[in-house]
Amino acid sequence: MLLNSQCYFFNVKKTLHRFFMDICSRNFNGFMLQKTEIVICLGSSCFARGNKHLVQLVKTYLADRQLTHKVIFKGKHCFGNCESGPAIEIDQRRYNNITSETIVEILDKALATKI
Ligand code: FES
Repeated sequence: MLLNSQCYFFNVKKTLHRFFMDICSRNFNGFMLQKTEIVICLGSSCFARGNKHLVQLVKTYLADRQLTHKVIFKGKHCFGNCESGPAIEIDQRRYNNITSETIVEILDKALATKI
């Protein structure tokens, strides 16, 4: 009898453990997905047209607003649309003909919910 009750509580404990682990993993995945992804084109055309300078501007923007941990910022080779460069993508939305003046406005709008 005691053995049966131990088994019952063991199964309940095991079920609860699985339930909470499932919730935790979902929350963790959800948290990871909430990071904004900024991809800057580092192809030769965009790089020469100004993305070399924009990399520093974006890094400074994120650091000044303490957003570095909320954003994945990375470079990528040519986006395949060089005539419209410099180009940048924020959460898979492409922005073309970026300048040092427009980048701040674009980041302000894209990251408004993160600040
Ligand atoms: S180099 Fe940037 S789109 Fe081609």
